Amino acid sequence: MRKISDCGIVPVAKISEVEQAKPLAHALLEGGIGCIEVTFRTQAAAQAIQIISQNVPRMLVGAGTVTTVEQVDEAIEAGAKFLVSPGFNEKVVRHAMERGTPIVPGCTSPRDIERALELGLCNLKFFPAEQLGGLSMIRALCGPYPGARFMATGGVSEENAPAYLACDKVFAVGGSWMVKEELMREKKYDAITQMCRSAMRRVLG
Ligand code: 3PG
Repeated sequence: MRKISDCGIVPVAKISEVEQAKPLAHALLEGGIGCIEVTFRTQAAAQAIQIISQNVPRMLVGAGTVTTVEQVDEAIEAGAKFLVSPGFNEKVVRHAMERGTPIVPGCTSPRDIERALELGLCNLKFFPAEQLGGLSMIRALCGPYPGARFMATGGVSEENAPAYLACDKVFAVGGSWMVKEELMREKKYDAITQMCRSAMRRVLG
């Protein structure tokens, strides 16, 4: 998890064509971002993870939208270094832990947080962050659980990312704003690099 928090910003990418994987990873690196979450929302996800993990060693590649134990296995076989799930599914979490791959499960309530802490996980995902009350909700949730830390995703943008990252309860932010579907579809990798640079400039102040 240390590596994810070193990156700070985790692009959440929906890769529809495997050919996009390599140029996208290079575009993000060029823009100063060394981490990517490839979501299991397309058929190409596992292969895209494999391509990045085998060809772009500087990129920390993880799998997102992992909602089944089969996807845990698929992601790990493909080379995912971390897993992210939108909700807290105990079967999925336990399976990832048994396989020794870090998982960041979605937790948006005291009940979810307690289940995660009980399993020894304190790095959690807060999704959809903006819609659920953003930073004030994260701070309130951490009151009784001072050990919990969140990766905030959902409605995060270049504008609000710095505020999230300034909070000691937030270890990273995730978002699709720099890898939006139209940029991906039209293969606008230079624009993706520019958006990453701009986000990193803001975050680094
Ligand atoms: C996620 O899975 O974390 C979200 O889809 C990212 O949310 P965003 O598209 O609002 O950035």
